[in-house]
Amino acid sequence: MYGEIIPKKEPERQYYFMEKCREKIAELSKELGRPLTASPITFGCQMNARDSEKLAGILEKIGYQLVEGEDADFVIYNTCTVRENANLRVYGRLGVLGGIKKKHPHMLIALCGCMMQEKEVVEKLQKSYRFVDLIFGTHNIYKFAELIYQRLTSGKMVIDVWKDTTRIVEDLPVERKYPFKSGVNIMFGCNNFCSYCIVPYVRGRERSREPKDIIREIERLVADGVVEVMLLGQNVNSYGKNLEQPVTFAQLLQEIEKIEGLERIRFMTSHPKDLSDELIEVMAHSKKICKHMHLPLQSGSSRLLKIMNRHYDKEQYLTLVKKLKDAIPDISLTTDIIVGFPGETEEDFEETLDVVRKVRYDSAFTFIYSKRTGTPAAKMDNQVPEEVVKPRFDRLLKEVQEISREESARLTGQTLPVLVEEINDHDASLVTGRLSNNLLVHFPGTADLIGKIVDVYLAECKGFYYMGEMKK
Ligand code: 5AD
Ligand code: SF4
Repeated sequence: MYGEIIPKKEPERQYYFMEKCREKIAELSKELGRPLTASPITFGCQMNARDSEKLAGILEKIGYQLVEGEDADFVIYNTCTVRENANLRVYGRLGVLGGIKKKHPHMLIALCGCMMQEKEVVEKLQKSYRFVDLIFGTHNIYKFAELIYQRLTSGKMVIDVWKDTTRIVEDLPVERKYPFKSGVNIMFGCNNFCSYCIVPYVRGRERSREPKDIIREIERLVADGVVEVMLLGQNVNSYGKNLEQPVTFAQLLQEIEKIEGLERIRFMTSHPKDLSDELIEVMAHSKKICKHMHLPLQSGSSRLLKIMNRHYDKEQYLTLVKKLKDAIPDISLTTDIIVGFPGETEEDFEETLDVVRKVRYDSAFTFIYSKRTGTPAAKMDNQVPEEVVKPRFDRLLKEVQEISREESARLTGQTLPVLVEEINDHDASLVTGRLSNNLLVHFPGTADLIGKIVDVYLAECKGFYYMGEMKK
């Protein structure tokens, strides 16, 4: 390219392309007589939200002004494919975006994330959505600048999707959504192959980051004003097993705890099969780890759990919950539950309800089983019809909500630390913050409290949140 030497090493190579893109964007912006805007739009989980912050960091670096919504010169859909309706939503919004692009031909549209890892999706986009400029997957978002440059110089649709990778590129720019809290990837991918789940196929094999890289990232975040981190991984409990010098998740937590200025540590998601006594012990004695555990159940039926390939049964799950509650009495437990997995009988479903009643979750995400092509469960011939699943789902939701309402209220009258996040949406005389157990609290306060942890008296529980008063 113009006789220049393009660095081979990462992340230097990407910084080179960021500079190249920056020149191009500045030219375009001069032609239009205004700054160019970009908007990464996230579908799906916290992992994707974090990836979008990385995209935003690169976009900002190359000269785009970040905006929200689809009214932008460059729209990026960071997609999810865990359930089918996630895919349908993307196609719906993409159709509308195509219409907008007809009127604004200079507009760029990129698609990335989990959906792009599916061959059929990319084929469909190539055939029926020719207006898309750039398609890439989950393994190469670090190459975003290089891909944008390729698109800007070739004028053609650019597609770069990798099947898997062993590579983790550190030290690229990130633009955080919140100044005071941040997600931190500790591992990528998943090795579990739960039989209903597409994640291992689209996110690849498990890869852990080196503890020193994680610690360095958090230290930098703290220096930049972050007081709370959320450690992210599909199965944080198996963190570090494949590192050259293996480290356990509990050991990593202990190292992170030592970082001065960091006040709160959260993590997700925990797989029950890998949750160690060591972790429970570390949590029980920690001053910084939030007393909250997201522990996906998926089903309460031991028979189904086996077919789901979850590697625990109902009794083992309940024993684990008891251990957690004994060691950390004020722990808040949340979960994910799937209704209507192939072959689910009324008895299987009753087992799920039974676990819900026994554990009494603070909250639960409930999902109707969605058939994902390529997973073993999709081939099972005993799919449960919608008219059976829907009433079960409604019954479960009612049960979960009733329990959650009762459990949420148990802190009434206590004074607890709250991290203030924002001015209240509905009443500007109030601020909104989060308790260690993740529940929201609204109380009278001003913008200068945002990002601070203050003690709040929990006066009244209104279902799933509290109204409080700050202790001076
Ligand atoms: N159908 C419904 N829910 C699913 N999940 C994963 N795969 C599917 C599927 N095929 C749910 C699981 C998981 C959460 C992130 O999404 O409950 O924990
Ligand atoms: Fe999917 Fe199971 Fe991996 Fe979670 S642990 S991402 S449910 S395969």
